[in-house]
Order: sequence, then structure tokens, then C-alpha cells
Amino acid sequence: MVSLCGILVLVLVNSVLSSYPEDEEGANNLFQGKMTFAANKFADMDPKEFQSKILMPKRRAPTFESSRYIKSTVNDPLPDSFDWVPKNMVTSVKDQGAAGSCWAFSTVENIEGQWAMAGKPLTNLSVEQVVDCDGMEDIPGKNADCGVFGGWPYLAYQYIMKAGGLSTWSDYPYCSGDTADKHHPEDNCMPCPAPGFNASLCGPPVPYCNMSQSCVAKLNKDKFVNGLQLSSWKAIDQNETVVAEQLMKIGPLSIAINAELLQLYHKGVFEPHHCDPKNLDHAVLLVGFGKEKTLFGEKSFWKVKNSWGPKWGLNGYFQIKRDVGMCGINTQVTTAVLSPPNK
Ligand SMILES: *[C@@H]1O[C@H](CO)[C@@H](O)[C@H](O)[C@H]1NC(C)=O
Ligand SMILES: *[C@@H]1O[C@H](CO)[C@@H](O)[C@H](O)[C@H]1NC(C)=O
Ligand SMILES: *[C@@H]1O[C@H](CO)[C@@H](O)[C@H](O)[C@H]1NC(C)=O
Ligand SMILES: *[C@@H]1O[C@H](CO)[C@@H](O)[C@H](O)[C@H]1NC(C)=O
Repeated sequence: MVSLCGILVLVLVNSVLSSYPEDEEGANNLFQGKMTFAANKFADMDPKEFQSKILMPKRRAPTFESSRYIKSTVNDPLPDSFDWVPKNMVTSVKDQGAAGSCWAFSTVENIEGQWAMAGKPLTNLSVEQVVDCDGMEDIPGKNADCGVFGGWPYLAYQYIMKAGGLSTWSDYPYCSGDTADKHHPEDNCMPCPAPGFNASLCGPPVPYCNMSQSCVAKLNKDKFVNGLQLSSWKAIDQNETVVAEQLMKIGPLSIAINAELLQLYHKGVFEPHHCDPKNLDHAVLLVGFGKEKTLFGEKSFWKVKNSWGPKWGLNGYFQIKRDVGMCGINTQVTTAVLSPPNK
């Protein structure tokens, strides 16, 4: 596996390999059915089962040329807490469902923040466009964007630069992951692999797809949000003081973590005893930080927006220990750079 969100990816790939159906109708039913089943099973798994069945090969954070990194520090003392949510730079919590599309949520939510930071109205932007249309690859780095089979924010920025823009969520709604209201199963989709989908990097594509639900049929550049374009993207240095300063300066940031134990998270500061920082498998959005008083003093944490729905964790968010490189949280911090307006 060479992309994020691999937890769900493995479940999907296993179900595909073990159950390749014989006819189209069978394929659709079976595959959609398997995705639902996989998601339920995943939620009910005990940690050991989860580890033995779902654990993936390690995926290290890609590193970039040094000019890509923001390393500067402001050196003003950091406040005790900071949060972009009440400042209206973060949209509502979404649910990726049974699809390995976290990377597209993380990317698009960073761009939502950048758009709002530029003084534009806070807008839900299209995650599905990125899932359906982004087939970017980094051949030397052996990474690719693979739709519901995972991907990387640094590649997704490059797709959006190439595409020339992004639709709104309402013009190009999310339909992957079997997340539609159960009274509207027609709102679920089975898109075909994105143009450029690299099977040697991504693994086998979906066994059945519906061309009319795919990028080629759905993408309409006339509907791109007027004036929203990316000119570049940046990565942030691993130093978590620098990350905090840049978060305050830039806006919500895309990050990646090792989320193998996050499945068990309920509330409080996530601080597992063992969480390999080199084994990234989930992309999320860094929105703030704070300090919690404990019996033994203070514990500093990051506040992170997840894409597992508003009922998960702390209204869809979680807190994770800060300043110790917890779960690799500081190893893949990135942001889009928007083109200045009127250019
Ligand atoms: C984003 O979509 C959610 C529904 O998922 C809606 O409640 C919210 O108002 C929308 N936010 C904005 C800023 O349009
Ligand atoms: C797909 O990725 C492989 C590397 O694994 C590369 O050799 C190949 O050129 C890529 N295919 C396309 C069509 O870009
Ligand atoms: C393919 O998608 C279209 C548009 O969503 C839908 O009307 C049609 O029923 C789908 N076909 C199949 C075989 O699922
Ligand atoms: C992180 O950056 C801060 C602010 O520039 C600096 O004081 C600190 O020494 C750095 N920490 C490490 C481990 O480099």
C-alpha cells in the first residue's frame, strides 16, 4: 500500500479479492454490501483482531525538497490555547464512510480554511471531485492518489492546481463510502477510477463502476468556485512549536497520523503508549491546540478535526498529545497556497 487511509483500503481490497463477482448486478450488490459489512465489522473489532487483520506495511511520511518547507518561527510566546473553529474557519464535520478517502477530506478542508482566511465566505467544498478525478502519482516517491483506496494531500494539491479549481460540495456532493441516507440509496455512487489511476501503485481498481457517476461524466469546470485556484503548496517543519505558530498564521493545516488505535478513542487527550510515528495511515485537519490540567501538572494537546462523522469522538474532533511527535502528527503537515484573487 502506498497511500493513506489504508485501514479501510485493506478491508476493501480483501473483499474485492475474495469475492470477485460474476455479473454486474451481483457485483454492485455484493461490493456495496461488502463495504457496509466491512465498516460494521471494523467498528466492532477488538484491538487485537484489528491489529492482526488490518495492520498494514509501514508507510513513512514523504519528504520534500527543502525549499518546500516553512521553517521560520515568530518566536512570540504561544498562547495557552488556540482554535480556528470558533473563528469560523472550519466547516461542519463530515463522514467519509466506508471509503479510504480521508486524504481528500483533509486536503479539501485545508482549502476551505484558506478560502475563508482570504476573506471569502466559509464554504463546503467538493471532496468527491478529488476522490473521483485525482489520479496524481509521484513515481520516484512511489505514492499515488487512488480514490477510495487512499491518497496523499501533497498530491491532491497538485491535482487541484492542474484541474484549475474546485467545485462546491453542493454542486459535486460526496457519494462514496455508502454514506447516503438509507431512504435514498440512489445517492450512493460507484465511480470508476480517476483518469490516470495507476494500478501498479494503487492496487486493483473497483471490480464494478458506473461511468455516469465518474469524474468524466460529472466534472463541470464552469461550476468551479469563482476565483478559487491554487498556486502552490507548502509543508511545515516538524518542530511542533513551528507547527503551532504556522497554524495560527496560516490557518487549519492538513496532517497525517498513525490512527490504528484512534478507533478506540472516545474523549480526552489521545496518548497511546505505542504509536509508531513512521506508520502513517490517516489524514485529518489540525485546527487548534490547548492545555489540560491534570493531577500531575499540565498536558498540552492538539485539537484535530476527523472525518468519521459528528457523533464520533468530541463532536467529530479529537485531542492528541502535543510536542512529542505523537503518532507522527508532525511529519506530514501541509497546506495549499491560493492564488491571489483577481489574477
Ligand atoms: C456545510 O454542510 C453542512 C451539512 O453537512 C451544513 O450544515 C453547513 O451549514 C454547511 N456549511 C456551510 C458553511 O455552508
Ligand atoms: C505507474 O507506476 C509505476 C511505478 O510503480 C510506473 O513505473 C508507471 O510508469 C506508472 N504508470 C503510468 C501510466 O504512469
Ligand atoms: C448508474 O448511475 C446512474 C446515475 O446515477 C443511474 O441512473 C443508473 O441507474 C446507474 N446504473 C447502474 C447499473 O447502477
Ligand atoms: C523548535 O523551535 C523553537 C522555536 O524556534 C525552538 O526554540 C526549539 O529549540 C526548537 N526545538 C527543536 C527540538 O529544535
